[in-house]
Amino acid sequence: MGDGFLRRLERFRAEAAARLRVRRARGPGDTPMASNGKISCWDLFTSVFPHSTRMLLHGPPGTGKTYQAIWTAHAEGERVYSVTVTPEMSAAELRGHWVPFESRWVWNDGPSMCAYRGGVRLVINEIDKAGDDALSFLLAILDDPEVALLSLPSGETVRPASGFRVVATLNGDPESLPPALRDRFPVAIQIDSVHPAALGALPKDLQVAARATVALPGERRISIRAWKEFARLREAIGEEQAARAVFGGRAGDVLDALRLHRGK
Ligand SMILES: Nc1ncnc2c1ncn2[C@@H]1O[C@H](COP(=O)(O)OP(=O)(O)OP(=O)(O)O)[C@@H](O)[C@H]1O
Ligand SMILES: [Mg+2]
Repeated sequence: MGDGFLRRLERFRAEAAARLRVRRARGPGDTPMASNGKISCWDLFTSVFPHSTRMLLHGPPGTGKTYQAIWTAHAEGERVYSVTVTPEMSAAELRGHWVPFESRWVWNDGPSMCAYRGGVRLVINEIDKAGDDALSFLLAILDDPEVALLSLPSGETVRPASGFRVVATLNGDPESLPPALRDRFPVAIQIDSVHPAALGALPKDLQVAARATVALPGERRISIRAWKEFARLREAIGEEQAARAVFGGRAGDVLDALRLHRGK
């Protein structure tokens, strides 16, 4: 029995254990929740991430899905490829194509093939936007490693190098994905709160107000992106103007809340 088999078995065990943890952690409404009711979506992400080769992160905008998908456990010098899918994106854009070089044509790997061959992380943002052409290619690179085998127009046939993993993000409902695509992500974590480090990176005097407003429903919500921009702009143009530029009609309320908090 070769080392390869043992490695595959070990990976299978780790993935199965992670899948089990995800299933156990899901409560009503698909919200990650441990039996003690304490685990957050980001705690769940952190425990599953090292063991999962294909992970789907879904939830509202600005919670930190892309940031964590790219930077979590990112070793110095490690390559990560990141693509954002659009409805018009072609398979060739992801896979690669022929390009003219001097007097001939040479094959040029696209970002997905670079990650596939290189055995590194591929982040696919807005995966639900894939049109038919890109979708067929995504289904191929997301196949289980045992069956994944890609024949390229260059004539090469490529298998995913060990270490290849995919983290995909979307704002919508993963159940609205085409069934074959959804099936390729046994791990799907609903990200329903802003990553604590994103809030922690704000200036201290904004953190309480930001924490309270990033989670508000609908139009009352103030996103972490807005808070970050306010923090940056106020350094340049002062708090009043920065608040008007970022918070619009709510600037007065936001500034009052900040003053109240500072007065305490
Ligand atoms: N761990 C972190 N440390 C510092 N800043 C963070 C962290 N995570 C996220 N952020 C910041 O929060 C903002 C939103 O993050 P990100 O773009 O990852 O959100 P998203 O969930 O992918 O949003 P969308 O669904 O709109 O694409 C970004 O400005 C990002 O820099
Ligand atoms: Mg994103």
